Formats: sequence, structure tokens, C-alpha cells
Amino acid sequence: MTSPLFAPIALRGLTLANRIAVSPMCQYNSDDGCANDWHLMHLGSMSLGGAALVMTEMTNVTPRGRITSRCAGMWSDANEAAMKRVIDFCRRYGVAKHGLQIAHAGRKGPTTPPAQGGKPIRPDEEGGWIAEAPSAVPFAADWPVPEAMSKARLQSLLGEFVAAVGRAERIGYDLVEVHAGHGYLVHQFLSPLSNTRTDEYGGSLENRMRFPLELFAAMRAAWPSDKPMGMRVSATDWMEGGWTPEETVVLARELAKLGCDYLDVSSGGLDPRAKIPLAPGYQVPFSEKVRKETGMPTMTVGLVTDPAQANDIVASGKADMVALGRGAMWDPRFAWHAAEALGAEAQYAPKMMACHPKLRPQVFPGRAS
Ligand SMILES: Cc1cc2nc3c(=O)[nH]c(=O)nc-3n(C[C@H](O)[C@H](O)[C@H](O)COP(=O)(O)O)c2cc1C
Repeated sequence: MTSPLFAPIALRGLTLANRIAVSPMCQYNSDDGCANDWHLMHLGSMSLGGAALVMTEMTNVTPRGRITSRCAGMWSDANEAAMKRVIDFCRRYGVAKHGLQIAHAGRKGPTTPPAQGGKPIRPDEEGGWIAEAPSAVPFAADWPVPEAMSKARLQSLLGEFVAAVGRAERIGYDLVEVHAGHGYLVHQFLSPLSNTRTDEYGGSLENRMRFPLELFAAMRAAWPSDKPMGMRVSATDWMEGGWTPEETVVLARELAKLGCDYLDVSSGGLDPRAKIPLAPGYQVPFSEKVRKETGMPTMTVGLVTDPAQANDIVASGKADMVALGRGAMWDPRFAWHAAEALGAEAQYAPKMMACHPKLRPQVFPGRAS
């Protein structure tokens, strides 16, 4: 019997070879939203390391929905063609399946890249624009106030997300994930701290979930029925009066009715004052809660770095999949190394087989494996 971490999992018509995913990670290196050779390096490297699923970074549906002017986009034919080139290479040579995380940053843009401080850029400054959000509530007291979105704008935004889904399909992605966490636009609708609307999109939990659910339904209808679609959420704002794990469970139940295939359960990001108790696997209890209370398959993420830790999470039913962000950057071959540690078999691309531990003595005669 292989270890639970290396048991395949089926999501609709997609079978993932194991439970390891590479978490979406912004690269802040696109040109007018277009992926380039850096993305080929980054995603190419990840797609060779044995993880079953590699998520492309938060990719935004409109220029105004970016965090920085160098964030990835999926609003133009040029964006689509650039990403298709990258994903085509990854699929030709790599072993992973590929997922696209589709997003809008809302009030969390525009900023300088994190490496330059992640500071807000005022609308009248170079690289600035007026952010749009559910309500005219800034991310922090000293940040620019976003423009509250009209109902007509919400309708056109649905169209932008749906168009990005069509582009994901033409590119050949295996899976799509809606980014509804980390304080970005969809999360801003969910949390009462960022959503102070008085129409049917704000107030009660039902109203705060309305736009995220309408969005999911519209995107799901535009995506092939044999391909999975999930959502990344922040299960808590870690703030008094904010979004809660209990509300996340309610959201998961509503998403299940709309054909959501998994919930990717993260936390935080809505308010910079939040105090987050970082520790290995600190977000696993949120995934466990959603999985146990709703039956929805979950992915956990956050300070999972060790093969035994990852295997235990899956074996004990706390999550169906584990995503690694920085851990995958640190060790893009994590899945290979985890398979060795757990006595399991990982995926190798044909051109990489020469380094498989079982074959090394033949490739290097007389050398111990
Ligand atoms: C450089 C970097 C970029 C990130 N970009 C995204 C992103 O585009 N979308 C997202 O949902 N999370 C993003 N995250 C969060 C990661 O996906 C992940 O949830 C987080 O880093 C915790 O996992 P880890 O401890 O394995 O790194 C990013 C994290 C890093 C380090």
C-alpha cells in the first residue's frame, strides 16, 4: 500500500497522481499581464518535480484588478497567448497537471512589489489607479480609498471572470480556482470588515456571499463539466468582527450545491492588523473543520514542509491535498524526496528518469544508490 500522500485523487474527470500541489505564487514579473520566460522557468521547474498539480499565480481579470502593474493578467488575447506558450511547454515536458487561479485584487492594489516594500501607489502617481472594491473602505487607514462598485459594474465583472475562464480552457488548463482569500476582491465581499454595502450584496451572511456565489456559478457554467473548479478562501480574518470559520462552513455548503469540487483553505490577508499565530500546519484545523462538517474535499496550505507532516495530514483526514508555496520554492523536487522518505513512488518526466534512485546504480555503474 502506497502512502496516503501518494494515493491518486479524482476530481471530476481529472485524476491527480498524488496529493501534493504547488501553491499559486505571484511572480510580479508580467508585462502588461503577459507571462514571459521567467514564468516558463518558474512553472517549468515546478512541473518537473513530481507534484501532481501546479497552480499558476493569481491571474487577474482586468488591469485594475492587479496588485502591482507587473502582476499576471488574463484580460487580453496577448495575455492568453503568452500563458499558452508557457503552459504548452510545461505540459509537453513536465508531469504535473496545471491549474489557473483567477482573481481580482480589489482594494489591495495598486502597490509596489513586495520586494520594494508593497507600499500603496496613489492614483495620481506613476503606476497608480483608483482601486475598485465592494465598499469605499481602504485596506488600512493610510491607504487610498477604493471606489465602491456599482451593481452594473458587478455584472460586467462577472463577464470578465467568465471570459478568463474561456481563456483558461483554450490554454488547456486542467483546473480553475477562484481566488476568494487573502483579502482580495471576492474575500472583500465576504468579510463584514470590508463589505459595508447596504444593497443585497452586503449586510447579512447571505448577502455577503451573494456576489461570490453568483461569480462561482457563472464561472462554473463556462468551464467544461468534466474539469474541476475550486475556490481558495481565507477561513478567518483573525480579527474581531471579521469573517469566521463557521461562515466558511456555510459558504462551502453553498458552493457544493453549485458544483465546487474542492475548497483550498487558507487564512488572513484582509486586515494588516491581524495577529496570525504562525506555526507548522497552522491552517490545517480550518481545512479539517470544512472537510468534516461539509464533506467537501479540501486542500490545506501554510507551513507544510515535511513529508511525514504532509502524509499525516492526508492520512488523518484533515485535508485531501496539501499545497506548498515556499516549501516548493525551497525544494521544487519535494514530491520526489517525500516519496523516498515515505517508501512511495513519485512521477518522473522521461528526461529526468536518470536520477531516479532505483536507476542510479545502472546509470553510474558501481556507484551506490
Ligand atoms: C512569493 C509568494 C507569492 C504568493 N502569491 C500567491 C498567489 O498568487 N495566490 C495565492 O492564493 N497565494 C499566494 N501566496 C500564498 C501561498 O500560495 C501560500 O498560501 C502561502 O505562502 C503559505 O504557504 P507556504 O507556507 O507553503 O509558503 C504567495 C506566497 C508567496 C511566498
